[in-house]
Amino acid sequence: MLARSIFLTGCSRGLGLEMVKQIHPFTETLIATCRNPETASELRELAEEHSHIKILPVDVLNHETFGDVAEEVSSIVGEQGLNLLINNAGISPRSTRINFVTPEAMAETFAVNTTSPLMLTKALLPLLKAGASSDVDEDSDFCIKNAAIVNISSVLGSISNNMGDRSGGLYPYRCSKAALNMVTRSLSSDLNPFNITVISIHPGWVRTDMGGPNAPLSSQESIESLISTLKELTFDKSGLFFNQNGEEIPW
Ligand SMILES: NC(=O)c1ccc[n+]([C@@H]2O[C@H](COP(=O)([O-])OP(=O)(O)OC[C@H]3O[C@@H](n4cnc5c(N)ncnc54)[C@H](OP(=O)(O)O)[C@@H]3O)[C@@H](O)[C@H]2O)c1
Repeated sequence: MLARSIFLTGCSRGLGLEMVKQIHPFTETLIATCRNPETASELRELAEEHSHIKILPVDVLNHETFGDVAEEVSSIVGEQGLNLLINNAGISPRSTRINFVTPEAMAETFAVNTTSPLMLTKALLPLLKAGASSDVDEDSDFCIKNAAIVNISSVLGSISNNMGDRSGGLYPYRCSKAALNMVTRSLSSDLNPFNITVISIHPGWVRTDMGGPNAPLSSQESIESLISTLKELTFDKSGLFFNQNGEEIPW
């Protein structure tokens, strides 16, 4: 088992949907969120087949709704709290070269990729603290016995790696993921006293709507590796940046 309860954003398609498919056997409660459940037919089918998958409508841009979201999550997970938050929802605008980048694209991408994971973490923090301190038996087979926050980042947010042949451009996406990595690092310091592990993970370059058809990995391959890596997640890894195989990526 991975964790007793898990909350996941952006589950309508792509990597989020694949995570729901592959993670649900390893948890007691999976809260799968998406902005429009009516159109997320595959997700709805999964929830109809498996009663421990609960769908909640969450548009990560609607920060003002996060208090209500936290109340709903609390009513689902109860006093045991929340054990794993995966901030997955993300966008990557098309026109991102220096001549085409706009303030609007920068602001919107930051709102989704950086501000939302931080604000959602803030709203769910009491539940994560409860999850981190609830009595999970040391002998239980949950890999995450306390609580963890996993920010789905990208190697394109690595400042060190932004050199050589495939460097430059992609201003909104690269900057928002570099800033998300700083969110990870600061949260890891702030939440250290509460036994909450915080990491950034790059899922690999994957054939989704965002990754495009030329990416080397299928969603299934990426998420299989990512789940294996999460099963090895320990508190001493908090504040670090990994790829889906668990190899550390330089900031
Ligand atoms: N694919 C890759 O190669 C790759 C590489 C590195 C990192 N990543 C990261 O992996 C994560 C998932 O990417 P993906 O490849 O699965 O992308 P995708 O196929 O484009 O899916 C993006 C998901 O995010 C959701 N989303 C976007 N804006 C949202 C909002 N305002 N509120 C709620 N949900 C929202 C989308 O929901 P709707 O269906 O409602 O639009 C969709 O479920 C992202 O954080 C991305 O940056 C991907």
